Amino acid sequence: RLPVIFDTDPGIDDAMALSLLARHPDVDLLALTTVFGNASVQTTTTNALALCGLYGLDIPVAAGAAGPLSPLGSQDFPAHVHGDDGLGGMSSRLPAPRQGVDARPAHELICEMVNARPGEISLVAVGPMTNLALALRHDPSIVSKVRQVVVMGGAFGTHGHAGNVTPVAEANIINDPEAADRVFGAEWPVVLVGLDVTQEVVMDEAYLAGLRGRGQGVGDFLWQATRHYQDFYHERDGIGGIYSHDASAVAYLIDPSLFTLRGGPVRVVTEGIARGQTIQAWRQFGEHGGTASPWSLCPNQQVCIDVDEQGVLDLFS
Ligand code: BDR
Ligand code: CA
Repeated sequence: RLPVIFDTDPGIDDAMALSLLARHPDVDLLALTTVFGNASVQTTTTNALALCGLYGLDIPVAAGAAGPLSPLGSQDFPAHVHGDDGLGGMSSRLPAPRQGVDARPAHELICEMVNARPGEISLVAVGPMTNLALALRHDPSIVSKVRQVVVMGGAFGTHGHAGNVTPVAEANIINDPEAADRVFGAEWPVVLVGLDVTQEVVMDEAYLAGLRGRGQGVGDFLWQATRHYQDFYHERDGIGGIYSHDASAVAYLIDPSLFTLRGGPVRVVTEGIARGQTIQAWRQFGEHGGTASPWSLCPNQQVCIDVDEQGVLDLFS
């Protein structure tokens, strides 16, 4: 079984993704680490603890960053997307948490667990990359000990999918562009599952309704929580359902054959109107890509550019 640490900001699609991680026979979920993003870190941590109760998980939950590495401007949480409570107003329906929060900050838990099992652990990060960047700073040696980093984040323009917060920036990246640039520039293998593929996988009304009645209240909770999320996407993009986002990152972890990858260094724009844009250098650029360029100094990472939509949906049903 694949040992996994899930770094998350629950979040409605985070809750959906966690439901699969929690029950899949190929996954050994070791811990959750939480981060600000869809709501404050206090709220996402409370949600993570409550979701552990719902999914029957008895694993450490460590709280992480309350804000980005370099705060610029005010910090707004997207209540219009995920609700004030991060879970579409449904958090009050979750059972009271059976456990408390872990004593370690998230980045320390990550470093400890990775050092205890070198080469084995996959990090799946579906919120801002702040905890991962802090872990890299705390113990740079983890780059050679992490098996892979699977990220929900970024937008590279394939299938016409650009940003979802600005014309070029995806939410998890713009919430901490400096952290994301460090994570993608580190010498560990990163796979980016961005809007290019997560918006190609839509969980429509019939599909979500089909989840109802599953797993001792789990399907019903997810159906209820997605009402708010679905209304937002209906109003904004006219789709009848929800984009898969974090669920697709978990799908990649479980079955990478459902995705087509493209290799090349990935950088994040950290200044100006394109702050938060992700760019991949996926072919050579002759003399302009010379040895001192910002591209050639970075490791090759993988970006998902195609997905088998039905294959991802089948994993959840
Ligand atoms: C990402 O941003 C968050 O709102 C979602 O949970 C997902 O991780 C999508 O852009
Ligand atoms: Ca998320």
